[in-house]
Amino acid sequence: AAASSELVEKLKSLDVSERLPKYPNCFPEVNTVDIYRAHLSSILSEVTGVDATIVYPALQWTQTLEKGDLVLPVPALRVKGKKPNELAAEWVEKVISLCPFPESPLVHKPTVMGTFIQFFFKVDKLAELLIPTVIKHGTLFGQNRYLGLKDPADESKGRKRMIVEFSSPNIAKPFHAGHLRSTIIGGFLANLYDGAGWDVIRINYLGDWGKQYGLLALGFKKYGSEEALQADPINHLYEIYVSINKDMTAEKEEMTALKEASKDFSHIEKEGLDEQARRYFKAMTESEPEALAQWKRFRDLSIKRYKETYARLNIHFDDYSGESQVLEENMAKSAKKMEEMGITEESEGAVIIDFTKHVPGKAGKSLERPIIKKRDGTALYLTRDITEMLQRVEKYNFDHMIYVVASQQDLHLKQLFKIIELMGYDELAKKVQHINFGLVLGMSTRRGTVKFLDDILRDVAEKMHEVMQKNEKKYEQIEDPLATADILGISSVMVQDLSGKRGNNYKFDMDVMTSFEGDTGPYLQYAHARLCSITRRAALTPEEIATADLSLLTESHALNLIRVISQYPDVVANTLKTLEPTTTLTYLFKMTHALSSSYDHLRIVGSERELMKARMALYDAARVVLYNGMRLLGLSPVERM
Ligand code: ARG
Repeated sequence: AAASSELVEKLKSLDVSERLPKYPNCFPEVNTVDIYRAHLSSILSEVTGVDATIVYPALQWTQTLEKGDLVLPVPALRVKGKKPNELAAEWVEKVISLCPFPESPLVHKPTVMGTFIQFFFKVDKLAELLIPTVIKHGTLFGQNRYLGLKDPADESKGRKRMIVEFSSPNIAKPFHAGHLRSTIIGGFLANLYDGAGWDVIRINYLGDWGKQYGLLALGFKKYGSEEALQADPINHLYEIYVSINKDMTAEKEEMTALKEASKDFSHIEKEGLDEQARRYFKAMTESEPEALAQWKRFRDLSIKRYKETYARLNIHFDDYSGESQVLEENMAKSAKKMEEMGITEESEGAVIIDFTKHVPGKAGKSLERPIIKKRDGTALYLTRDITEMLQRVEKYNFDHMIYVVASQQDLHLKQLFKIIELMGYDELAKKVQHINFGLVLGMSTRRGTVKFLDDILRDVAEKMHEVMQKNEKKYEQIEDPLATADILGISSVMVQDLSGKRGNNYKFDMDVMTSFEGDTGPYLQYAHARLCSITRRAALTPEEIATADLSLLTESHALNLIRVISQYPDVVANTLKTLEPTTTLTYLFKMTHALSSSYDHLRIVGSERELMKARMALYDAARVVLYNGMRLLGLSPVERM
């Protein structure tokens, strides 16, 4: 990723061109801070004697700018013989006595902070390098398409392929909090890798197969209505499912009662719902046309509705896979392979894996003894996942795959990955990753316990609409208040979900999430809308903004904002490491706070024309970053609210 000639010219004019050697992972075109990294690396390498390519990746960004724009943790250079804090002091002395310090065009004199060396950017130069870059890249700023290349030096070799499997609800059953979190976090991860240049495939692995879908078909015969199915397949199928399950429970109770009274219950055993469902499902697995067609219709109609709801969350899937898509013949192959490898064994008529025999010690014990095939020959959830993974290898030949599934299924995924490894697919086992997350506690709305994604979104939009109506004046100016309320409602839910660390549980709280105070979705949206309103009112042309004299940005609030904006590409890069949405979200809130404290000091209206242009360029850059960050998280930034 070499710098374009345009950038090289710019650097020359700033007298830093000769200090920009090429480092791996140095992307000055997309990340202005990398220019500073390169600049500092060559100086520090001279001072420390450590190779510049080792210094470069050791230079870290900081969470709080009081600590500097970049810091060098001295121990990271692994220089032996002296204590890190002594080295830090020594090196800073040397750096200062060495040319080009203290005249570096880019950084101030470094300071020592314990075992860290802190560097503060000269913000005037930073502004000149940064702001035009942000405005030029626009919606692409913060993305780094080089990271996903198979060969960073040769784009023609193509991109690495990532599968993100997420959401994965079960047809005819409630879309519960686990599915909600999987949808939000998975959508975010897919965006993240997309922006890093990976070829991302989004898979929804539906729960759409098993005896219960045989039961559902029976239920449809008894309770179904074609009209209701077409109108609202998700709810209708769920209602049917609930009713028919009640019937089955009643039947089972009857059977128990008969049994206890030593009466004949064989008619239930032979002809009851459970047995009928089993037979129906068997017909499905044998591709009996009528049974299969019926089931396919349920599935297709459900997917159609899911798609509409996902669209409201800016989410699409490339592949609606599901348990039904795992082929019997492939499962037979996997079963044979597991048997040949000596992984599976028979136990009381079923096929199981006893992990204690394959994985030594505690680890083996903790993996337990999962069943692979039931006594009646039916395959299980785990069995299907094994074969589905191998099918995905065939179909997509991916470089990495992420499963976004609740922590409750930690054991399931550990078992799955271990089995793949034991089957001899070592390379594959290294490519798969489980991204888990904690529970949502008390997810209910005013209408009661939430069942479907639509219910949540509708309730939260209603709540948002009420909140909006409290400010009559503003409310009147909004063109389509219901649509805005919908977006704000969705933002509320999403931001609350993405706020903490993934692994933490959180409490679903409608009042907190829809508030305009605190770090909430509506607050983030408000910050964006405010920047849009400033842009509208200033009404400057892009040319005027592009030719702004950025040296007029001298106030401490302006300098702070510029430094915060410069961090965005590093924040995204860091998010790729943590895979925690909060890494990005925390930064966005930091920026909105910096913005809201700046407005009084950096006025546009009433300022002199040149100053107005310069400030507008700054706000423009901030708006671009806020917009891009919100899009990355899956939000739809609003322009008015
Ligand atoms: N449908 C499953 C459930 O609701 C989640 C599927 C997770 N993905 C997987 N490959 N097992 O629990």
